Amino acid sequence: MKKDYQHIVILTGAGISAESGLATFRAANGLWNNHPVEDVATIEAFQRNPAYVHDFYNELKPLLNAAKPNPAHLAITKLQQEYPAKISIITQNVDTLHEKAGSQNIYHIHGQINQAVCLNCGHVLETFTDVDTETTCPHCQISGMMKPNIVFFGENLLYMEDVDKLLHQCDLFISVGTSGVVFPAASFVQIAKYYGAETYEFNLELTSNNLYFDHHIYGKAGETLPRFVSELLNAQASADNHNH
Ligand code: APR
Repeated sequence: MKKDYQHIVILTGAGISAESGLATFRAANGLWNNHPVEDVATIEAFQRNPAYVHDFYNELKPLLNAAKPNPAHLAITKLQQEYPAKISIITQNVDTLHEKAGSQNIYHIHGQINQAVCLNCGHVLETFTDVDTETTCPHCQISGMMKPNIVFFGENLLYMEDVDKLLHQCDLFISVGTSGVVFPAASFVQIAKYYGAETYEFNLELTSNNLYFDHHIYGKAGETLPRFVSELLNAQASADNHNH
């Protein structure tokens, strides 16, 4: 661990929200909230049966919005508030627990549960209520063209230009609670490492892209991440003292 990182990137996955009571994607039964991912998270599923997919996200929305941030989310906010570096969060999660924890610089590369996007004009609608096949776009007034602003398999990720810059610049890359099996997010650590970042993986277990991580910290993120943030802050403070 260095004493003075300049630019920290934190990639989060469903595992960081597990201790807030939210389901991960690849738990034992392989279902996401009791539905096969391919029935509710592919562009084909949406084209085949948009009402079914809208219903799934309409049911999921209050669940995700009722969840509270856990100590892992709060540790990231503490780091952003107290560590003198640019700290960016790239999240695969569609919940808004990073926002609820008071974090900034959050990039929802797989979309966000409280948003819908108009397939006619591209307008992104922030909404906490149901969206369905009748919903009218407030921007172009066309009905029936709204889609949950969730990036389905087969669609491009959001914010990829920003992400590319972040991965090129960062000197510390931290991955928290992701299985590392879904690309391109699973390749971010390789890019960061290639451009010189020190890389840490926080998970319950070894993941499939563990080779690119310099350090592995096992355990529940709600316990391991707060400890790590304290170590980072102590190391930076001691460097500060030496410099005065
Ligand atoms: N602390 C740390 N890690 C945890 C915890 C915890 N409390 N609980 C679970 N994990 C780890 C699991 O070991 C697993 O490696 O979190 C990871 C969750 O993996 P997935 O369920 O595959 O979720 P994720 O990696 O975010 O999935 C990526 O796949 O289905 C798509 O778009 C969807 O964004 C999602 C993407």
